[in-house]
Amino acid sequence: MDMTDLQQDLASFWMPYTANRQFKQAPRLLSEAKGMFYKTPDGREVLDGCAGLWCVAAGHCREEIVKAVQEQVARLDFAPSFQMGHPLAFETASRLAAITPPGLNRIFFTNSGSESADTALKIAIAYHRARGDSGRTRFIGRERSYHGVNFGGMSVGGIPGNRKTFGNVMLPGVDHMPHTHDLKRNAFSKGQPAHGAEIADELERLVALHDASNIAAVIIEPMAGSTGVLLPPKGYLERLRSICDKHGILLIFDEVITGFGRLGGAFSYDAFGVKPDIMTMAKAINNATIPMGAVAIKQEVHDAIINAAPEGGMEFMHGYTYSAHPVACAAANATLALYEREQLFQRAASLAPKFEAAVHALKGVKNVIDIRNFGLVAGIELAPREGQAGKRGYEAMVKCFGKGLLIRTTGDILAVSPPLIVEDAQIDRIFSTIAEVVASID
Ligand SMILES: Cc1ncc(COP(=O)(O)O)c(C=O)c1O
Repeated sequence: MDMTDLQQDLASFWMPYTANRQFKQAPRLLSEAKGMFYKTPDGREVLDGCAGLWCVAAGHCREEIVKAVQEQVARLDFAPSFQMGHPLAFETASRLAAITPPGLNRIFFTNSGSESADTALKIAIAYHRARGDSGRTRFIGRERSYHGVNFGGMSVGGIPGNRKTFGNVMLPGVDHMPHTHDLKRNAFSKGQPAHGAEIADELERLVALHDASNIAAVIIEPMAGSTGVLLPPKGYLERLRSICDKHGILLIFDEVITGFGRLGGAFSYDAFGVKPDIMTMAKAINNATIPMGAVAIKQEVHDAIINAAPEGGMEFMHGYTYSAHPVACAAANATLALYEREQLFQRAASLAPKFEAAVHALKGVKNVIDIRNFGLVAGIELAPREGQAGKRGYEAMVKCFGKGLLIRTTGDILAVSPPLIVEDAQIDRIFSTIAEVVASID
């Protein structure tokens, strides 16, 4: 591609979640990938410290997945899932139901995390309505949570910047609990922080305010990922679960980031032991090879909706043209088989102590005000520059890229979440590069 073509193409693509003008002055391009590495168009290798966008859990361009996709697209490129089916979809659903928490064994397919969030919210309302409790339509989300960009997910989400432009057109009937991030009490915690279980009691306050009879569901990320790796304080999830049970409110976990090994088990249930009623997933479901998401639903919730409809009538008026797309399913089946064969979730758990020690070794580096971790995910929080929040984090990301390391940043928080195939020496390289970069910026 010559430079004129590149300039034209740069202008044409309105990039998502990107400072377009800034990026286009100095583009960062990735053109190939294999295993733990990306390659830039000029042949530079970049170690993937964040699994793409928290999604390439098995590493890049894995042969089994590539082959499954190639074969499937040549055999059955598309088949509708509305009033028709194809065998792979049922296989993928069963494979997922085998690793979701016990009882969450009904699977609805979507194409993204955002669609999964909106689907989960609709299922919650449909469930209460099917049981004759149609007043339950309100949702409780949480500050500093991310549930994608569609109107439902955005409304229950708690990111001011995402909400600002659309403030007057949010889903009605949504309230938010406070987030659990507490630097004063919990800075430099390893694993789940000790303080903050009582923050869950804010849910009781909101229930008292709105009355349980109006509330359909509470939705949270069990560990908030994209707002900066915020781990649930010890006892917090248990308290939320019991308050929801007490008031007949469904609990939805958004596991788009926490699913598929990131926390050292299949889902957050395996790490924290708390079971939701509905769970969303996407990203690593098929190693991000083809867009795909899913919602796992407790059987009672599913049955209540299905059995309320007259025989022969559609039970839930919802679905996407590409729900259970055959090529996405082929990628998912190959991915789930690979996770199993290589025991990648267990690998994440067994690498976690090494990963924890490596990230916490950054304590004391200039401007580092917190470090937190669990499984194969870590957040490193930098003090914001006076009047320039986010600048230090952005500079760190750009400098790391210059040194051949890809990381994610949220404001001044650096997030590290490598593919689960990461090697010991690569963990060392990730954190020594970050330490060097962070120490070098003002
Ligand atoms: C927890 C969570 N939910 C939902 C989403 C949205 O997923 P998508 O970008 O696939 O729509 C994300 C994306 O990062 C996420 O982290």
